[in-house]
Amino acid sequence: MRIDVVTIFPEYLAALDLSLVGKARTSGLLDLQVHDLRTWATDRHRTVDDTPAGGGAGMVMRPDVWGAALDEVIQGPGTVLVVPTPSGPTFTQETAHAWAEADQLVFACGRYEGIDARVAEHYRAAGVQVREVSIGDYVLNGGEVAALVMTEAVVRLLPGVIGNPASLVEESHGEAGLLEYPVFTRPVTWRELDVPDVLMSGHHGKIARWRRDQALARTAARRPDLVAALEPTALDKDDRAT
Ligand code: ADE
Repeated sequence: MRIDVVTIFPEYLAALDLSLVGKARTSGLLDLQVHDLRTWATDRHRTVDDTPAGGGAGMVMRPDVWGAALDEVIQGPGTVLVVPTPSGPTFTQETAHAWAEADQLVFACGRYEGIDARVAEHYRAAGVQVREVSIGDYVLNGGEVAALVMTEAVVRLLPGVIGNPASLVEESHGEAGLLEYPVFTRPVTWRELDVPDVLMSGHHGKIARWRRDQALARTAARRPDLVAALEPTALDKDDRAT
C-alpha cells in the first residue's frame, strides 16, 4: 500500500518511522511519504492560507495550493483522499478495514479553520473517493494527529504487518461487536490481587466462556451503545443468561 500525507508540519509525522508502521516501511510492505504543502506554494512567503470569504475569525487554506499538491500526489482511481475534520462522520474499525483494501491513501491535513470546501468537491467530481472524517467528538489543532491515528489503525491490518494475525481476531471493535475481555499474565499474585482461577484451570471451554462473559459485561458497563447495536443473532444462548 502507498500512503501520502500532505501537511505544513511534516515533523509531526516523525512517529511513523517507529514501531510497526516504521517496520512496515523498511520491509517494503508500506510506501509512506510525507510532503510539505508549502512546496506547492507559489509566492515568496510560501503562503498557504487566506482570510475566510464572508468574513469571520481565522484563516482558510487556499484551494489552488492544495490542488497543485493533490494533482501531483494522487495516483489513480484506487486512491482514497482522506480529509481529517471534526465535522465529518466518525472513523471506525470498519473504516480502517475498508481503507486497508485501497491502493493508496492520501491524507490532506488542514490547519486553521480548514481547507476551502471546493477542494473536496473538485476531487469528488473528478471521481476520487473523498472521505472527510473525524476521529472523535473533540477539536484538534489540525489533521496531523488524526492522520497518525488513522494510518496506524489501517497499517496494522495490512497482511504481514502484525507477526501473529491471531491477535487481530479477538480485539475490541472487532467482528463480535464487543470490547475485549480483561487480560492477565504472571505473577499469579501481585499486590494481593490474583489472576482469576479459571484462567489457570487449563480448561479451554471454560476459559472461552469466561472471556465471552467478561466481554459482554464490560461492554454493557462501559459502552451500552455497542450492546444496543448488537444483532440478536450475535448472542448465543449462554450470552442471554449473562
Ligand atoms: N481536525 C481537528 N479536529 C479533528 C478531529 N476531531 N478529527 C479529525 N480531524 C480533526
